[in-house]
Amino acid sequence: MKLLVILSLLVVACHGLSVKQQRSFPSDFLFGCATASYQVEGAWNEDGKGESIWDYLTHNNPGAVQDQSNADITADSYHNYKRDVEMMRELGLDAYRFSLSWSRILPTGFANEVNPKGIEYYNNFIDEMLKYGITPMVTLYHWDLPQKLQELGGLANPLFADWYEDYARVVFENFGDRVKHWITFNEPREICYEGYGFDNKAPLLNSSAVGTYLCAKHLVLAHANAYHAYNNDFKPTQGGVCGITVSINWFGPLTDSAEDEFAAEIARQAEWGLYTEPIFSTEGGFPKEFSERVAEKSAQQGYLWSRLPAFTEEEKARALGASDFLGVNHYTSRLISATEYKSTGAVPSLVDDEDIGIYVPEDWPVAQSPWLVMAPDSIYNALTHLHKKYNSPVIYITENGWSIGPGRDLIDDDRITYYRAALESVLDTLDAGVNLKGYMAWSLMDNFEWLEGYTARFGLYAVDFEDPARTRTPRKSAFVYKHIIKNRYIDHEYEPETMTMTIDEGN
Ligand code: NOJ
Repeated sequence: MKLLVILSLLVVACHGLSVKQQRSFPSDFLFGCATASYQVEGAWNEDGKGESIWDYLTHNNPGAVQDQSNADITADSYHNYKRDVEMMRELGLDAYRFSLSWSRILPTGFANEVNPKGIEYYNNFIDEMLKYGITPMVTLYHWDLPQKLQELGGLANPLFADWYEDYARVVFENFGDRVKHWITFNEPREICYEGYGFDNKAPLLNSSAVGTYLCAKHLVLAHANAYHAYNNDFKPTQGGVCGITVSINWFGPLTDSAEDEFAAEIARQAEWGLYTEPIFSTEGGFPKEFSERVAEKSAQQGYLWSRLPAFTEEEKARALGASDFLGVNHYTSRLISATEYKSTGAVPSLVDDEDIGIYVPEDWPVAQSPWLVMAPDSIYNALTHLHKKYNSPVIYITENGWSIGPGRDLIDDDRITYYRAALESVLDTLDAGVNLKGYMAWSLMDNFEWLEGYTARFGLYAVDFEDPARTRTPRKSAFVYKHIIKNRYIDHEYEPETMTMTIDEGN
């Protein structure tokens, strides 16, 4: 009898193990990789392209970039796009997320002049992907605003929403017959807070108290314009979907006190709720508690209006529900406490408005990029929260990845550990019933990491930036990702036998 019990326990245990090992990704789950125009294209002034704010920043203020580099050539994807598609086929990707350079398509920023060479480049690239059954997922704006528009105030100008719509219409008209997944903006927080509020992204405006919030409002309205333009005038014939990608890292409470939970909610509202709430909530507008906080502080600071500008009822209605899916760029987590930061209000800023303490436990491993730490259950925590909060929206993870140091080290075991843990968290998220449809790894290849220049490498493929041909070589993580995509489950024991990459039949 005893033996029987032990035996049946063993059977149950082994079964549990094999079920866990064999949890698989749905066959229609989209696996892909992501990049962005300024980070990989190069050809910064070729074939009629206009200047962008990143061209301007790196040429006029090179000291702002850690290694004084720029992306004039970077991975030179403008000339190497066929090799890029070959890499997608080697990995067996279902989808590829890339962005369009606004100033390559509209050199003046405005729709008065469309650059035929720019259109041709993206046509060729899209057609090359489609030839091999790879789904293009296209971001309209990944931070490289035409410099001419910046000189007119960029996203701080309320007319930005109209300029953006004009650009979006040109894009839908030219590529919408073949592109069915549109993302209007990449990471509004980084555009508005880091670019307008701080000096960590172009245009380095450093106007945290006011600039961040002006940008947030106009960005939401620009997104809504593009969404409605697509919905009314293109979707009926083209039949695609249009969403927005927000950087949604997880902000959980440091302790289970009500104060810490409220502080964490304030962090979520300030860090990404400003951009999700107006579109995905049921009430619309900016997040309630954070809006109240900014209004109160603005009054105390002598402003005659809240530094966070409200939407009119009409604007609110226009933004509400204006998205077919939520794109989530997820990398990391933070723990939030109510007691640490104590606002004096003396220097108004978003950080002062938040008035919270932010913690990173010492045992969370840190990547080459200091902000990027590996936290347990990070994806699961963020996505199950969004699922409940916003009534089960369709979600795509549009970025997730890990940086290593400069150089072309091909053995990137830390990245493999990160990806495996992240994808286990994706499986937990799917098990919890979240409407998650795909996962894009950042990044297909090494590229220009903004103000970190080339000091941080995110690529599944290493790029030789010294070589005029910009040779790409697969890292160990590329083989591991390929194995997961092909088998639709995570084999934690898998080791590539060789470092020679080939294209599997059917890719
Ligand atoms: C998010 C951004 O969208 C991308 O451009 C950047 O390179 C990665 N995060 C890594 O920092």
